[in-house]
Amino acid sequence: MPQRCEQMPAVPPIAATGRTGAPRPAAGLAGAGGAGEAPRAGEAFTNETLARMSDLARKFLGIERREQVAPHLAPEDLAASLDLSLGEQGLPLDRVFALLGEVMAATPRTCTPAFFNQLYAGRDAVPTAAEMLTALMNTSMYTYRVAGPHALIEHELMRHMATKVGYAEGEGIICPGGSIANLCAMIIARNEARPGIQDEGHDGRPMVAYASEEAHYSLNKAAAMTGIGRRNLRAIPADARGRMVPDALRSAIAADRERGAEPFMIIAMAGTTVLGAFDPIDDLASIAEESGLWLHVDGALGGSFLVSERLQPLLRGSDRSNSFNWNPHKLMGVPLSCSPLLTREQGLLKKHFKEPADYLFQSDPEKFDHGTMSIQCGRRNDALKIWAAWKRHGDAGYARRVERLCDLVQYAADRVRHDPTFVLTAEPESVCLCFEVIGRQSEEICERLLLEQRAMVGHAVVRGRKVIRLACANPEVTEADVDRFFDHIRAIA
Ligand SMILES: Cc1ncc(COP(=O)(O)O)c(C=O)c1O
Repeated sequence: MPQRCEQMPAVPPIAATGRTGAPRPAAGLAGAGGAGEAPRAGEAFTNETLARMSDLARKFLGIERREQVAPHLAPEDLAASLDLSLGEQGLPLDRVFALLGEVMAATPRTCTPAFFNQLYAGRDAVPTAAEMLTALMNTSMYTYRVAGPHALIEHELMRHMATKVGYAEGEGIICPGGSIANLCAMIIARNEARPGIQDEGHDGRPMVAYASEEAHYSLNKAAAMTGIGRRNLRAIPADARGRMVPDALRSAIAADRERGAEPFMIIAMAGTTVLGAFDPIDDLASIAEESGLWLHVDGALGGSFLVSERLQPLLRGSDRSNSFNWNPHKLMGVPLSCSPLLTREQGLLKKHFKEPADYLFQSDPEKFDHGTMSIQCGRRNDALKIWAAWKRHGDAGYARRVERLCDLVQYAADRVRHDPTFVLTAEPESVCLCFEVIGRQSEEICERLLLEQRAMVGHAVVRGRKVIRLACANPEVTEADVDRFFDHIRAIA
């Protein structure tokens, strides 16, 4: 087990070089293949490149084991410690790989058991390998012609995930992040509510969407970008655990209708960003059906709970939604980023995103030209890594993973409950635990933990109070790691 980081000796860069001194070749790797010369044009990826990569990766894993939290420097100090400038002449290969090593060594560690800062964490073997192989194949996912089996993989993956949501005839497309998936959902909902808007543009009559006050800020961006307008995205009050209050939603819809605005969309949160709370989706689905509104579920965080029988009830009613955003890069350990947007109805994605491009869409059955369903043209292959990971873990493995994360948070919550140093902000619903340290500023605690290289954790505001948010996204974190985290805070406090 890695030891306390503040006792560690300073860690040298992965491939030691001096900024001004002569580059030192990575042991046993420099030399052949023009390593000392910058290439004239392109440069082939060879077994030697692979060996250099694997050498850097091996060294990085070693650094992580020795130093769970990287030293935190001010941007100007970090910039001064690295050779970041770009110039007229290329550099020798040894030097470039040495620089890559230096950058890696200076990179905040997100894969160690001291990282609780974000809603993703850790490194799962198979999807990480698949991601590296994806770069090697350099596939664009717009057509079957160039994506081949990867187009079929995305199709199968979307089918499987849609089934988990409860969409018997659903489909989906992988977006470059949960924010874009939410944006695409709002575009579809807007277009469905206002046929013709794609050709004629927005006529100015106000359209209103509803999400809880705890919803993710990407919805504000979506409202700003779709012409809905931020002011027409209503923040509906949430209860003490962060779940939207359905009666407040009903009243808001009625009030908007009364003043002549056109409600068109409800967004239900399946796992809010700060508290990890789940809105009562079934109740919101009833309201959406009664009012004829589109229901989108933002399951960026909590979508993966659908694979667990134990946790699935938190998402009851998802099958009644129209669209669903699910980010396997959050709790499923798949490298950033991968964010399927799933729809209950087939053909909707094409209806709202297809544009003709005869120089591109020339494939066999158009069914697998996924570019016709996407907001993007060239699109990276985010399907392979999710699919490979799912092959490895199966639904059952993923159920164990997300259940483990929730158990860890409950363990952490117990520590908070039983220690008078801490105050629990809200009962945790899933993988986030918010709390305060009595008599101390949350921001200051987070900063000290980072500067002393003990842990990385973030803070947020809940009901006007700044709280520490512990996010558990790495199932390899142990109870002992959680204990160590709280011991560090007690030592600071
Ligand atoms: C609930 C929720 N929705 C959407 C997003 C946006 O996802 P992404 O960071 O992939 O854009 C996040 C990100 O944390 C989130 O927590």
